[in-house]
Amino acid sequence: MIRALSTPAAIAPGTVSGSPQPRLPATGNLLLRPWESADIPSFLSAYQDGETRRWHTRRPSTETQVREWFDAYRQDWQQERGGHWAIAGDGDETLGRIALCGLNFDDGVAGVSYWVLPAARGAGVASRALSALTAWALDEIGFHRLQLDHSTRNHASCRVAMKSGYLLEGVMRSAAVHDDGRHDMHLHARIRGDCADR
Ligand SMILES: CC(C)(COP(=O)(O)OP(=O)(O)OC[C@H]1O[C@@H](n2cnc3c(N)ncnc32)[C@H](O)[C@@H]1OP(=O)(O)O)[C@@H](O)C(=O)NCCC(=O)NCCS
Repeated sequence: MIRALSTPAAIAPGTVSGSPQPRLPATGNLLLRPWESADIPSFLSAYQDGETRRWHTRRPSTETQVREWFDAYRQDWQQERGGHWAIAGDGDETLGRIALCGLNFDDGVAGVSYWVLPAARGAGVASRALSALTAWALDEIGFHRLQLDHSTRNHASCRVAMKSGYLLEGVMRSAAVHDDGRHDMHLHARIRGDCADR
């Protein structure tokens, strides 16, 4: 691909794909690790939960589809489009999902998304996983800005973002379609050098 920008890339190509996807420890005995075949049933079950379905409109509906998603996740890493981790707890139990997506190496910007299985909610899993992923992406890979959006009605996700130092930057009006119609979306971002404690 011909690169025609006047500015140097914030992150050199190969910074992500040059190494295997890492396993990232998070506080409280959590581990962010690549998805494995054994996770397929719990991954599928997440999308059968009403609260997950309320906020995520792109959903797998069979184990075969989940397997295809996991294959696409591996390709995303190899082609430096994204990174997708299972959040695992004690005994390697799958608790949730967290991902970096839309990697932009020219500007050093990426997006973040997450969900947690119903039984594991309310115990700080999402915010601890987000803090670990954020530290790795900013400090190890060299991203400058990480951003996430959520419906203005998703108060739990808003709290996760704020707890992990993702400041609220504004409201994107009517920016996303959910099952019950269009939603305004909060845009949050964490910039390298921001204070993490909110
Ligand atoms: C949003 C979600 C990822 C949070 O995961 P989690 O592991 O329970 O998050 P944490 O325990 O780290 O933090 C949740 C925070 O939200 C707060 N919270 C939960 N429900 C809330 C509500 N209805 N209103 C306001 N705050 C709420 C909790 O009190 C907690 O904040 P606190 O630590 O200050 O008390 C999880 O609920 C989920 O998967 N929901 C469905 C899918 C989803 O919303 N994905 C995100 C799409 S942007």
